[in-house]
Amino acid sequence: MSTIQVALGSRSYPIEIGNGLLSQTGAILQALQLSQNTVVVSSKRILSLHGEPLFRSLRRAALNVAPVVIPEGERHKTLATVDKIYHALSRLRVNRKTLVIAFGGGVVGDIAGFAAASYLRGLPCVQVPTTLLAQIDSAIGGKTGVNLPSGKNLVGVFHQPRAVIVDPLLLSTLPPRELRSGLYEAVKYGVIRSSALLDLVAQKHSRFPQRDKQGLEQMITECARIKAEIVSQDETESELRMILNYGHTLGHALEAATHYKRLTHGEAIGHGMIMANQLAERLNNLEASEAARINAAVQHIAPLPSLRQLRWNEVYRHMLADKKFVDQSFRFVLARRVGHVDIVKDVPRPAVESVLRSYLHAQS
Ligand code: GLY
Repeated sequence: MSTIQVALGSRSYPIEIGNGLLSQTGAILQALQLSQNTVVVSSKRILSLHGEPLFRSLRRAALNVAPVVIPEGERHKTLATVDKIYHALSRLRVNRKTLVIAFGGGVVGDIAGFAAASYLRGLPCVQVPTTLLAQIDSAIGGKTGVNLPSGKNLVGVFHQPRAVIVDPLLLSTLPPRELRSGLYEAVKYGVIRSSALLDLVAQKHSRFPQRDKQGLEQMITECARIKAEIVSQDETESELRMILNYGHTLGHALEAATHYKRLTHGEAIGHGMIMANQLAERLNNLEASEAARINAAVQHIAPLPSLRQLRWNEVYRHMLADKKFVDQSFRFVLARRVGHVDIVKDVPRPAVESVLRSYLHAQS
């Protein structure tokens, strides 16, 4: 078991990571001296899989618990779902001390975090993530929000949780494609900060989650350590935190161009990292052997879904509409070597077009 601190002055908080930790949630919250009254925001599926040990642990610590069930899936990450949570919180007559526990994957974490941030001008929140992606990324760092019909995460605020409680054993019920989606993000952490982590993912991922529980916990801990360090230095993404977007400039455009249906988030980022490396070979002195090492780690997780029949200009159109397209120029996070990336501003449009065209052409 490990504790990693996100260091943000009076808003600092621990990330507790350990196999079997779900059943200690109540004791952890009690030690943090948060409210006696808790509301667990989750989905029906997660509650039926893992709700029992969580509720038992909370009650054992003499905490009052009320569940609030919301629908699952990205298409429900909307203001309408937030409204449902507000109504439930109002019915439950919560006060400003009531603790909201976000129990689920990235979508639940973002919506419940946003509802907590805004109801009564802010309730405390604890994240208990149940997917690999949420355990290593979205539950840490305080980004909360919802989608609008015109785009993803367009409404949101930073609202740091009071704690993040990570139990890697919960991943044993995760569909394999969802596990892989998180593994691509783990590759991302290796490339941006740690050559040893990239090796760990490459060598051990095929044994996750069941056959190497220690290795999985170690990988999650390393990713969380990197995320915590970056968020502690740049909470609101004024500069450094942007490096977490390695692979995301092209990846987000691929997700949007395929209507969020053909690719998981991680698969889109996998393609995005490979394309970003092609740019980095041209623009950031990334050696071909280093690019090959990263690309092999991505492809070794599983062959990425084909992008056949996807038109390059459709993807490009989404890139031009992205938040990262600022003042008519592209900003990319590009690897220099494994363990080090740079934020490269003013990436020439013809270079981006050419990489995208040839990558999609090779897929057809
Ligand atoms: N997932 C990127 C960030 O939290 O900044």
